[in-house]
Amino acid sequence: MTVDLLVTNATLPDGRAGVDIACRDGRILAVEPGIAAEAGRVIDAAGRLVSPPFVDSHFHLDATLSLGLPRMNESGTLLEGIALWGELKPLLTVEAVMERALRYCDLAVSQGLLAIRSHVDVCDDRLTGVEALLEVKKRVAPYLDLQLVAFPQDGLYRSPTAEANLLRALDMGVEVVGGIPHFERTMADGARSVRALCEIAAARGLRVDLHCDESDDPLSRHIETLAFETQRLGLQGRVAGSHLTSMHSMDNYYVSKLLPLIAEAGVHAIANPLINITLQGRHDSYPKRRGQTRVPEMRAQGITVAFGHDCVMDPWYSMGSGDMLEVASMGLHVAQMMSRGAMRDAFACVTTHPATILGLEGYGLAPGCNADFVLLQAADPIEAIRLRARRLAVVRRGRVIAESDPVLTRLDLPDRPSTLDPADYAPAG
Ligand code: FE2
Repeated sequence: MTVDLLVTNATLPDGRAGVDIACRDGRILAVEPGIAAEAGRVIDAAGRLVSPPFVDSHFHLDATLSLGLPRMNESGTLLEGIALWGELKPLLTVEAVMERALRYCDLAVSQGLLAIRSHVDVCDDRLTGVEALLEVKKRVAPYLDLQLVAFPQDGLYRSPTAEANLLRALDMGVEVVGGIPHFERTMADGARSVRALCEIAAARGLRVDLHCDESDDPLSRHIETLAFETQRLGLQGRVAGSHLTSMHSMDNYYVSKLLPLIAEAGVHAIANPLINITLQGRHDSYPKRRGQTRVPEMRAQGITVAFGHDCVMDPWYSMGSGDMLEVASMGLHVAQMMSRGAMRDAFACVTTHPATILGLEGYGLAPGCNADFVLLQAADPIEAIRLRARRLAVVRRGRVIAESDPVLTRLDLPDRPSTLDPADYAPAG
């Protein structure tokens, strides 16, 4: 057998060890121990983890890397961020948005992040972000899957031209319907927007991803309407609610009714732990709510949950690095997912779960899947999160597109000169 790429002695996220991965013509040909093949290139994984690529199910590529333009967000609140973005929007150019987005894509793929769902603000009559990101999507297609969401940041009904602009964006090729019901003027308008947006998606055969209930108000219950409309219109499996932070503050009795409704409707949930731990609970003194939606409780109901990065160096969030392991780490901590199984599930929240939400075809480490994967300097998914493990190789369609040397430190201690590999500190038992 002749193959383009052979990875030997890999450990997979499901625990299988000593596995070889053979790739030909951009696809995975075989995943099994002891593959005998002539290979154009061989990578010895040396027992380390090979994972399917990271997937970010919630991002804002039109705003990323704009930190400081036209000024800093001093309070760090959501509302100052939205106001600041409103100041920046008229100053945007297609070229500048493209340049920042492409720079972020470079950072993403260098860390094995090979699929991103990005919202793009349509509350700009010029549709600058839409034009820029549609072009970026084309340019990055060989190495990164970019899925765009038409997002009416200023409210579908609160902004006079949002609805028309959203439809224009969909006509131009944006493929997911977005919204922000909790930002409409009234609860009734919010519910009306959910209904209208789901109807648009149903009529056009599209997916839906709403910024939904990103609030500490326990009465912000648009997720209930989203689950209902999903069921009514037959959109099961194609709808996601992003943020859902109000659920943190909801009455437990109400949530005991709500979660089975979300599960029954096949609505997915996307938490954005890095940003929401900074934005929520801002009106609290102490105790101060952490504000993240109820991740373990949703997982227990069988709801697909992903962790998104949301923002990197933009009006809302001045931190971030495109590292989905940092996202998983924060999600795990805030949700107190500390069992071994829960920690492995946190890794799935930045890999397989968001791949399901995006509907990625050919994703995974099985024969026939796209030859896309990441070799990490870690033994397993838990260690990968704990160490924010170095990406030693990033493979796209069977070709190595990014490589890094392992992190190793030379120690020169009295009588104990040695080389320290942070991944050598595995659990004792
Ligand atoms: Fe967002």
